[in-house]
Amino acid sequence: MQTALVILAAGMGSRMKSDIPKVLHEVAGLPLIGHAMKAGASVSPARTVVVTGHGADAVEAVVARLDPDAVCVRQAEQLGTGHAVDQAREALAGFKGTVIVLYGDTPFVSAETLQALVASSETSDVTVLGFEAQDPALYGRLITDGDALERIVEAKDASEEELAVTLCNSGVIAAGCETLFKLIADVGNENASGEYYLTDVVGLARDKGLSATYVTCPEAETMGINDRAQLASAEGVFQSRARHEAMLSGVTLAEPDSVYFAHDTEIARDVWVGPNVVFGPGVSVREGARVQAFSHLEGCVVGSDATVGPFARLRPGADLASGSRVGNFVEIKNAVIEQGAKVNHLSYVGDAHVGAAANIGAGTITCNYDGVMKHRTEIGAGAFVGSNTLLVAPVKMGAEAMTASGTVVTEDVPDGALAIGRAKAVIKPGFARKLMQLLRAKKMKRD
Ligand code: UD1
Ligand code: MG
Repeated sequence: MQTALVILAAGMGSRMKSDIPKVLHEVAGLPLIGHAMKAGASVSPARTVVVTGHGADAVEAVVARLDPDAVCVRQAEQLGTGHAVDQAREALAGFKGTVIVLYGDTPFVSAETLQALVASSETSDVTVLGFEAQDPALYGRLITDGDALERIVEAKDASEEELAVTLCNSGVIAAGCETLFKLIADVGNENASGEYYLTDVVGLARDKGLSATYVTCPEAETMGINDRAQLASAEGVFQSRARHEAMLSGVTLAEPDSVYFAHDTEIARDVWVGPNVVFGPGVSVREGARVQAFSHLEGCVVGSDATVGPFARLRPGADLASGSRVGNFVEIKNAVIEQGAKVNHLSYVGDAHVGAAANIGAGTITCNYDGVMKHRTEIGAGAFVGSNTLLVAPVKMGAEAMTASGTVVTEDVPDGALAIGRAKAVIKPGFARKLMQLLRAKKMKRD
């Protein structure tokens, strides 16, 4: 059976106290809406519909970037979750499979849980994802009869007896497309909130003799984000999971609680990660590499057995081949560092290609920006760049070429050639002592 997703993301999220729409706040470098889409992707949906409202332009731009095939529909006024799903009616016209409704602000629903939901839809007209709530508070309550779900009652509309139920509604629901939209057409708004409740489809289904049931998941999966404190807790939940998974897959974390992962960090076996390392989005670290303390990486590849840091910054497009070394206080951006090449100290290498086994001396800068445009620097295999060299791009150094320390290179250096460009130091014997005496005498006079 095919599946389609409807992700609700129209809400204002006023408790975020933000000019940014709630679902665009990030956990692990990915907007909340992206987490919901990623969770939903685990059931390989044939169609994805995102219902937008507050901040629709911004939300739609992000959705389009994450999944160009997703369709966004607008809910001009937020009249309730049932009304929100109804906005997807046209976008799903003619769809024959199972529709799964997710919330854009609920990032942690697992693939296993969604698969259980899809499996249940094979035999049940409506399936709701429930959970045992520690504090049921304002959640909708699942009123069950054995495995059958009779209805969902919202806390505001519940009796004392119903409020005592701890099995709660996560908001995730699955039903056949045609059935779902037929049921939604019958949902009214005569309730304590005056809203069109999606949850009413359960009772309506049962009234029509259709079947409804529920599957459950751990409460942690249903965690919704409404304010910045919950956003921080969600980040914490993500990070502890990511650390745990990394370690179980063969990565050593010297001090796990100080390492931060992004939603898509890929780390291979036998990688060693020191304390206080931050992985931004788009990082892949291969077997046996070492990422030492206080390094910050994003959008980059660290090849097998390469060493990074301590205190290194790898920016987007940094591509470190196997066995290369990037040391302390080095920044690499949009540059390939080939096998065995070394950039060990205090350098900036940007828009560049550094050949195999080249050695980049301390304080080397690729001057890639002329104030308007970016230019490339090519450094040949086995080249030796002396300390404090400025390579004014566009410029090329050939294989096994050299620069003397302090050289400003403005022209290409052929293979095997030496570039030297610096003012020759003049040595004046005895001058240092004389100068010091003079200065001390001056100071004494002043004091
Ligand atoms: C809803 C459920 C409740 C469940 C709880 C779980 C209903 C009627 N109630 O309640 O049973 O326990 O979620 O968190 O469904 N949204 C729209 N448009 C709207 C209304 C809501 O897009 O018109 C979106 C919101 O942005 C949010 C989600 O739907 O992401 C849920 O809406 P919310 O108002 O938070 O519902 P709850 O009252 O929490
Ligand atoms: Mg809510």
